[in-house]
Amino acid sequence: MAGRPILEVENLELGYGSLKVVFGVSLHVDEGELVGLVGGNGSGKSTILRAISGMIAPWSGRIVFDGEEISAVRPHHMAEKGLAHVPMGRQLFPNMTVEDNLMLGAYLPRARAERDRNLKRVYDLFPDLVAFANAKAAQLSGGQQQMVAIARALMLGPKMLIMDEPSIGLSPLLVKEVMAAIRRVAETGLPILLVEQNVKQVLNVSHRVYVLENGRLVLDGPSAELQGHPMIRKAYLGL
Ligand SMILES: Nc1ncnc2c1ncn2[C@@H]1O[C@H](COP(=O)(O)OP(=O)(O)O)[C@@H](O)[C@H]1O
Ligand SMILES: [Mg+2]
Repeated sequence: MAGRPILEVENLELGYGSLKVVFGVSLHVDEGELVGLVGGNGSGKSTILRAISGMIAPWSGRIVFDGEEISAVRPHHMAEKGLAHVPMGRQLFPNMTVEDNLMLGAYLPRARAERDRNLKRVYDLFPDLVAFANAKAAQLSGGQQQMVAIARALMLGPKMLIMDEPSIGLSPLLVKEVMAAIRRVAETGLPILLVEQNVKQVLNVSHRVYVLENGRLVLDGPSAELQGHPMIRKAYLGL
């Protein structure tokens, strides 16, 4: 059901101070797609996500979201336009209840009016969270906390979701659960850019994957094809 691009990144270059860490990266995510951006630690994944979210400015290149070029560093503007970012490490408020954490995802005007409807939708999507609505976030398992972080992002009523390493720090069993949850979200039709070091899991759930090494894309294609690619098998799947 892929269609027109919701996100287009063209020839992106950026870094920190005088250190360039992203070299001419071009990628796109189309309507209805779950796209992986995978690479090792320090390869530049989070830096690319920060540029897409409007947190740091590109040195050169173009980022177009929903037909509009991102021209200034204004993260709230990107959220207001419908881009939701699930940050690395989840960043929940541990002493607040699950439901209050979810409500924080709906503070922008675009989300406030739809808050009750979106809350019902996220509970439908993550039924396990219903029983924990009034529990403090800290009482949940790491996997459940990741579900809350994703659900909070959905409270924006976004047009697209970007996620930074949702599987980090989770046991293999919980990684599988979180990946299945991400797949469920994608099946609602929401386009997703999933950033991960866990190449195997991403290949299992995504439609397409881009592989980043030292700030450069070295390979991309449909996940089903890349699963058998010699470079992927050798470098990432240990085969
Ligand atoms: N705030 C920062 N200041 C300076 N260098 C940074 C900063 N954040 C990341 N870097 C550097 O940029 C490179 C890419 O980092 P990052 O985008 O976080 O990679 P990844 O998310 O793939 O692990 C790394 O060499 C890292 O040390
Ligand atoms: Mg990172």
